[in-house]
Amino acid sequence: MATIRFYRGELLLGVAESQSDTPILELAEAIGIDIPRNCTSGNCGTCMCRLKSGVVSMPDPLPAGIDEDLIEDGATLTCVGIADGPVDIDLIPPI
Ligand code: FES
Repeated sequence: MATIRFYRGELLLGVAESQSDTPILELAEAIGIDIPRNCTSGNCGTCMCRLKSGVVSMPDPLPAGIDEDLIEDGATLTCVGIADGPVDIDLIPPI
């Protein structure tokens, strides 16, 4: 277990404990943080947030909602992303 901290910009919204196979979107929801979503399967990009720090595992191959350039810009898809250790997430996406 590791700590996931959710921010909007610099404002800390809440803290959750990661679970090995639970997407970040669900961890947020469990503590009352509503991240916009649509497909919940990595295809639409609606749930995109910014990874402030830490590592989030994405499916391999990458789903249609994200690409390597977006990941380089700090983007992560919370509906399919699994925290790999402590993570800070900004609900404001990088694009
Ligand atoms: S909700 Fe569609 S990519 Fe996450």
